[in-house]
Amino acid sequence: MKPQIILLGAPGSGKGTQAAKLVDSLGYQHLSTGDLLRKEISSSSDLGNRVKSILAEGNLVDNDTVLELLSSNCELGSKHYIFDGYPRNIDQAKCLDESVLKGAESKAVYLHINLDDLASRLVNRRTCGSCGEIYNLISKAPKVEGVCDKCGKSDLTQRKDDNEETVVTRLNVFKESIEPILDYYEKAGRLVTVSASGTSEEVFEKIKKITEQ
Ligand code: AP5
Repeated sequence: MKPQIILLGAPGSGKGTQAAKLVDSLGYQHLSTGDLLRKEISSSSDLGNRVKSILAEGNLVDNDTVLELLSSNCELGSKHYIFDGYPRNIDQAKCLDESVLKGAESKAVYLHINLDDLASRLVNRRTCGSCGEIYNLISKAPKVEGVCDKCGKSDLTQRKDDNEETVVTRLNVFKESIEPILDYYEKAGRLVTVSASGTSEEVFEKIKKITEQ
């Protein structure tokens, strides 16, 4: 039986890219708290308006808001999820175990990469607003500028928090918070670390093996 996957890693380490591959090839459901928050912001909901400036600054949204959003979008049952962007601190890790996973088998996969490589990846990221495909102007440019290879729409956009100033804050927030989370999963015997510095295909092959173990 496939484990639930908790995808950990710095901004730009490739969580969204790998999650999309797991969805396509292994039938996982992708649950990204960042995507859920951005959806709320786009729809100008009360929640979205409350968190808009926090995402723009690169800081973390409060735990209660994120848990509410996660819980209302996750029905574990027989589904297999990739939790992307959650947890971001120990309280969130405990909530995920106690309120969502409730004993379901899970593995925390940490995409490890030198943080100095990430600013360039992030400022060059573009995402298709129609189908969500992730591009990079350096490592994975669309065949026709501004047009999505996958769905053909001219809707490639840059995330508002992918600017140099916000990227520095996001990487600092990550540095300050990741160690206790890794300790938590290590002590529980659920942590697997994967080098995320190869091509996205190479990284995917390693993650795929973890889901089969
Ligand atoms: P979130 O949306 O989770 O963003 P993040 O953690 O900063 O991660 P990213 O989505 O930026 O990067 P990624 O690892 O998915 O990389 P990707 O695959 O796209 O969070 C955003 C904000 O929401 C937070 O700052 C916070 O405010 C809030 N938030 C979210 N969750 C929260 C929570 N739980 N609690 C509180 N607040 C929360 O790849 C990046 C680029 O690199 C792409 O261009 C891609 O093509 C390229 N790339 C990927 N892999 C490779 C490779 N192997 N080689 C070369 N290029 C590659």
